[in-house]
Amino acid sequence: MCGIVGYLGASEAVPVLFDLLRRLEYRGYDSAGIAILNGSILTSKAKGRVDDLISITPEIGGCTGIGHTRWATHGKPSSENAHPHCDCKDTIAVVHNGIIENYIELKDKLIDSGHEFRSETDSEVLPHLIEECYAGNLESSVRNALSMVRGSYAIAVVSTGEPDRIVIARKDSPLVVGLGSDGYFVASDVAAILKHTKDVIFMDDGEIGVINKDGVNVTDLDGVFVEKKVETITWDPESAEKSGYEHFMLKEIFEQPAVIRETFSGRISSDGIDLDAALPNVRRIVIIACGTSYHAGLFGRYVIERFARIPVDVEIASEFRYIDPIIDCGDLVIAITQSGETADTLAAIREAGSRGSQKLGVVNVLGSSITRDCPCIYTRAGPEIGVAATKSFTSQLAVLLLMAIRLGRERRMISTAEMDDLVSGLRQMSGNIQRVLNDAPLIKECAKLFTDADQFMFMGRGANYPVALEGALKLKEISYIPAEGFAAGELKHGPLALIYDGIPVVAIATKDGVHEKMLGNIKEVKARGATVIGIANESDTEIDKYVDYVLRVPDADPWIAPILSSVVLQLFAYYVAYHRGCEIDKPRNLAKSVTVE
Ligand code: M6R
Repeated sequence: MCGIVGYLGASEAVPVLFDLLRRLEYRGYDSAGIAILNGSILTSKAKGRVDDLISITPEIGGCTGIGHTRWATHGKPSSENAHPHCDCKDTIAVVHNGIIENYIELKDKLIDSGHEFRSETDSEVLPHLIEECYAGNLESSVRNALSMVRGSYAIAVVSTGEPDRIVIARKDSPLVVGLGSDGYFVASDVAAILKHTKDVIFMDDGEIGVINKDGVNVTDLDGVFVEKKVETITWDPESAEKSGYEHFMLKEIFEQPAVIRETFSGRISSDGIDLDAALPNVRRIVIIACGTSYHAGLFGRYVIERFARIPVDVEIASEFRYIDPIIDCGDLVIAITQSGETADTLAAIREAGSRGSQKLGVVNVLGSSITRDCPCIYTRAGPEIGVAATKSFTSQLAVLLLMAIRLGRERRMISTAEMDDLVSGLRQMSGNIQRVLNDAPLIKECAKLFTDADQFMFMGRGANYPVALEGALKLKEISYIPAEGFAAGELKHGPLALIYDGIPVVAIATKDGVHEKMLGNIKEVKARGATVIGIANESDTEIDKYVDYVLRVPDADPWIAPILSSVVLQLFAYYVAYHRGCEIDKPRNLAKSVTVE
């Protein structure tokens, strides 16, 4: 939530900052702004998108600047509340991602000492505090100011007193510096700077960096020098571009065959599964996550319990933090997160660690905060820019399947014959996803029929239950149509009351151990007037008798089919939203990484 950027180098800063902001816009898009150092500080801010900012920004020369794209927490979206925020004399400008928890107390004191505030934000205390502490050295005034602050922050600061310098600092909000041939690039995540450079320094909590023409000097909050490693990002810069697709979401859906190949690359053989981190032998696994990643966790439970016979609990991270969880060193807590920055998930995994449990992350974004907290297995989906998670979800499912097989093998729960079948299924997965994608025109046509639906229901059983939940989340998130996902066996315990003549019900009915039960559930909703869209295997000709429309997935192992069905539902949600004219990559009120509670 919120993206911050900065540039210091040989080029004009404004176009670079706009480029960086555009790439970070998925983190927040209710207002944006920049500040350029050029003798004085020149700012431009606008309510709305980065394009709105670009349209009102006059020509501003200067090779050093900072910028921000906002997802409002304190104060409504407006140009006054947009960052950068300045001190009283307009000599210091700050962009901030995070929350200053004690801002009211700090603001009252600053007002008492004569500071004048121009916004309703928590962030504005920062430039005033820095101004209060400033005695000729920006770095130490930032350090002193931050010692008074409680909360989370990634900040970039410029001052007219120190031209050609950006001071940055981080605590609990992501921050990375790119080292390019024509300058230094600051951003909230690597995807924004990939076009400019692949060499980066990840800032850690409690670090302050000073960027000038000679390099980046990093110290801790006590001023002690910190030696930082320059890391080279392996992601292809093209992967953060739309590459001719109308939306990032569509591009990311279509990337899935390649993503799955990458997720599996070097990890599968008939002898076993090789993963980046060890899987400890534990009595119980607890999976914690939010949103789509939580749905992946539910799938993880089914496959780990099935193949490894280890009991698995799955918890919503924001609940887990506050339920006084019963965990100890006999448990492995696995945090699943695309971004590696979700505040609730990070807090939950830290809580688990503090209670002695073993920890593991399943993460997509390279160098993200969770990778600093625990050993991680990367999903290798590449940058995901669309707010709606797609390729990150299927790659999470794929990694969880790999983990389940590996644990099952280690615990001798999977026979060689079963292992061979699974490995062959995994090897065919990428091609099978491609076959689903080849049906995109059919899915688009079917979606068009439901453009004006008022409501949707999604049902599945077993490993298809999380798929139903995810299908409903995808649809509501981007089309704004209320959609409920539920376990089909629960129909008679409540959801059946929602069925009325013509309500669309998506039934995930691929062949598995509960297929017949699923057909029974379809009959129940049909009998009450629902229009049923079945997701079924290619060879399942019987299904046509039960449903109104069928969307097909290739015949596949019942534990692999849910991944294929997920792709169908992503396309279905995309096309419903597309036909409704929704702003697909940036759904209202949402942001890609939820870095606040
Ligand atoms: O980065 P994370 O996986 O931790 O994010 C968790 C959720 O915020 C995320 O999955 C969200 O639900 C997606 N927008 C859904 O498409």
